Amino acid sequence: MLNDSFRYGDGALRCDGVPLSAIAAAAGSPLYVYSAARVHHNVERLRRAFAPLGASIHYSLKANPSLALVRLLREMGLGMDAVSAGEIARALAAGVDPARIVFAGVGKTATEIAYALDARIGWFNVESRDELRLLDRLAGERAARPQVALRLNPGIRAQTHEHIATGHLGAKFGLPAADVSALLDERSAYPHLHVAGLHVHIGSQLGDVAETVEAVRVAQAVAAPHPDVRTLNIGGGFPVRYTASDPAPAPDDFARALAPLLTGWRVLIEPGRALVADAGVLLVTVLYVKEQDGRRFVITDGSMTDLLRPALYGAVHEIVPLHEPAGETALAVVTGPVCESADVLSRAALLPPLGAGDRLAVLTAGAYGMAMASNYNLRTRPAEVLVEGDTWRVIRRRETWDDLLCLERGEDS
Ligand code: LLP
Repeated sequence: MLNDSFRYGDGALRCDGVPLSAIAAAAGSPLYVYSAARVHHNVERLRRAFAPLGASIHYSLKANPSLALVRLLREMGLGMDAVSAGEIARALAAGVDPARIVFAGVGKTATEIAYALDARIGWFNVESRDELRLLDRLAGERAARPQVALRLNPGIRAQTHEHIATGHLGAKFGLPAADVSALLDERSAYPHLHVAGLHVHIGSQLGDVAETVEAVRVAQAVAAPHPDVRTLNIGGGFPVRYTASDPAPAPDDFARALAPLLTGWRVLIEPGRALVADAGVLLVTVLYVKEQDGRRFVITDGSMTDLLRPALYGAVHEIVPLHEPAGETALAVVTGPVCESADVLSRAALLPPLGAGDRLAVLTAGAYGMAMASNYNLRTRPAEVLVEGDTWRVIRRRETWDDLLCLERGEDS
């Protein structure tokens, strides 16, 4: 969806003060463009909503780990939620205080845990007894005593795409309530850990506040016998509107429903999508247009390797031309060059007549866009641009064919 930062002015689609066609002409295509102003707006909206709960916001790096964006979010005072040592290294490179980093994930390796301990990060979110044992041993070897939150699987199936629902017992995430209770009872067996909180994240793009409220209730029941366990990390999952019809409760709706429950609790949240999704677009350029089986195929230089969500989840991203359409629009399949029928950016985009060289913007692409891009078909990943008011700069250069070869040079020569 268009928003205050991505809208038409004088017939041209702009990102804040800059026409997107000018950026594409200089920086090439396909291209990710992010609005610093929109990121700022999103942070403030979430911060205002959760201020009554005193929540500490940890940006979920997986949504978009661009160094420039991470720096921006760090400057806005956010902590970080990392799910790999790579993400921790990225946060540290962006100047994030290690104490403001939480490390989550169902499969942390010993190497990653050791790295995180040595970096003195703030919290480990632990998802199994084996992981707790390993963390205790590695902490003991370092004379460290990190804070730990146990990840609870509350047994709630979130009404979201099945690939991104995580709170039901059939999912690999967290531990059932009985297991978390048992671990809390036997905390003294882990002398090198300060098990002080619970973590619960039931999924992403959550459309129903009541499910999150229920998850928090389950966590509180588990923590009830342990008065020193009063930190609750309620995860991320705050939804965004990809289209006008998406059910997307606002951060305010979540905060208002949760506030009465969480008095006296220290609260952490881990938003990713809600901070960056609508702050980014993917610009692509039309290569060819053809009719087939009664459908119009618009073939662009952008593909599933640049934005995987439509292929992987059937996700709908609106696509609009950079020049405001004046006349009629008609449905088109927007696709890329990749050798897969799943390669679509949109199965039904309403677009004006188009020809080679016309540029399009795939909207709401700032989260899980570049983060999930690949080199399949040996395609180079897009460049990334950050717009700050009336100025813009390349924050990641376009990959080259040589970049794709360099890891193999010397191995097979
Ligand atoms: N915390 C935990 C433990 C998570 O697993 C996730 C996302 C988040 C926070 C951030 O969720 P968010 O606020 O961004 O919804 N690739 C998928 C989304 C995967 C989400 C994975 N976990 C997509 O493109 O929709």
